[in-house]
Amino acid sequence: KYYTLVDKETCIACGLCGALAPDIYDYDDEGLAFSILDDNKGHVSVPDHHIDDLMDAHESCPTESIKINHKRFG
Ligand code: F3S
Repeated sequence: KYYTLVDKETCIACGLCGALAPDIYDYDDEGLAFSILDDNKGHVSVPDHHIDDLMDAHESCPTESIKINHKRFG
């Protein structure tokens, strides 16, 4: 299983993650990304059929703000 959240302290609102993984990430009013799976808590595992998107976003984020983990965050 994979869990994910966005580090909003380092996100620069580049917009890549939501384009690559629209079922996982969206943007707040300031354009900063967050996980829509669980309001960026990293508590809900990413569905298997979105893992490829998850990896694409993780590898593409220019500031490494897409965090992934095998255990839930927090
Ligand atoms: Fe932010 Fe990285 Fe997404 S900079 S908008 S978390 S690709």
